[in-house]
Amino acid sequence: MAGLPMAGLGVRVAQAWQAARSVMQFGEFERDGDIRRLRRAADVADLRRIARRRLPRGCFDYIDGAAEDEISAARSVAAYRGWQFRPRVLRDVSEVDISGTVLGAAVPIPLVIAPTGFGRIAHSAGELAVARAAQRAGIPYSLSTMGTRSIEEVAAVCSGRKFFQVYVWRDRALMADLLERSAAAGYEAIMITVDTAVLGRRERDVRHGFSLPPKLGLDTIIDGLTHPRWLLDFLSNEPITFSNCRGASGGAGADAVALADYINSQFDPSLSWDDIEWFRDRWDGPVMLKGVLSPADAKIAADMELDAVIVSSHGGRQLDSAPAPLECVPAVRDAVGDRCEVICDGGIRRGSDIVKALALGADSAMIGRAYLYALGAAGETGVDWLLDYFVEGMTRTMRLVGVRSTAELAPDLLERV
Ligand SMILES: Cc1cc2nc3c(=O)[nH]c(=O)nc-3n(C[C@H](O)[C@H](O)[C@H](O)COP(=O)(O)O)c2cc1C
Repeated sequence: MAGLPMAGLGVRVAQAWQAARSVMQFGEFERDGDIRRLRRAADVADLRRIARRRLPRGCFDYIDGAAEDEISAARSVAAYRGWQFRPRVLRDVSEVDISGTVLGAAVPIPLVIAPTGFGRIAHSAGELAVARAAQRAGIPYSLSTMGTRSIEEVAAVCSGRKFFQVYVWRDRALMADLLERSAAAGYEAIMITVDTAVLGRRERDVRHGFSLPPKLGLDTIIDGLTHPRWLLDFLSNEPITFSNCRGASGGAGADAVALADYINSQFDPSLSWDDIEWFRDRWDGPVMLKGVLSPADAKIAADMELDAVIVSSHGGRQLDSAPAPLECVPAVRDAVGDRCEVICDGGIRRGSDIVKALALGADSAMIGRAYLYALGAAGETGVDWLLDYFVEGMTRTMRLVGVRSTAELAPDLLERV
């Protein structure tokens, strides 16, 4: 008799175990760390969190940070929340076409990879990984003048569409050389960045004493020791340099310099509309202007028959309190009509953001930080994941809004919150 309660307990434990087993699921352990991390990610904010954990603070803050109080950066993202959809129903959305055009040529999703400097601080594969992922997704890749892989290195791994982003150096011989090399390597268009007369004051970088390429001072080593995988990746690969500007007067990036000092000594603050003609005379393909926010400037660009204006505040990294690009799109579209393309750049974190930018008048959208977070979180696999996430998000949003193709996207689809 004394053993019976124990037996009862045993039965109850066995029953509980069986019940637990019926609801427990143990998948196979995923050996690939990138895939494992991505399985726990649902959106760009998750990629950002993972990248923040994996990168040394100075590197993460260089990517994530912006100018001064970071008002423009925050508003660029928040602007998308200031608009809500006016969905329609019963419209047979079994087939939805999210394709669009960039510079007149078809793309499976109207999305462009923005130029960002120093890609290799996020991951050693840097620009090459992003360019390959862009090619797989069928979208154009923009290489920055300040890239850590050269024009030719990127072209060697990416036969897809490529744009070269131009920062206008005082040294015009260097500029002419960059244009020649881009043309020879098969870049389709140039994108002249016009919002960087001087470098914006990025105060996170000021606080960290951040230099580019990152120098291995005591701070970086201590920071690196708490991020050993990044440190190993950094040390076991060739030094990070400004690959495109080798031979530039004032240094080619072999020595660590404060970015602001370097840029302010090299970039030409006297840049004016006349210089844009200089580029047109030397570049045979399409020319885009990156960093236009005012309809008056957009109109001049259209009058000059430039091919695209990129409505952008440089991700809030230049002039703080510049307006959110999304808010500038309708007036810019009115100013240029259909004379040139309008690309909305800044704050895009979801497929629904692309839908909103297109509905307000953009032809396509461009992403910067989103893919750098993806790269920092999970390398090339992370960028593939991100581009799929945008395709899936844009498709789902269009279905839920009741729109079958990007051609149907119009302002009446949206209203202010
Ligand atoms: C880390 C970083 C580096 C950048 N480097 C460049 C650059 O070299 N040239 C340029 O024209 N824009 C540069 N940008 C701006 C981007 O091209 C783009 O305008 C901006 O990232 C868009 O905002 P988003 O990050 O919210 O998508 C950079 C942006 C970031 C975040």
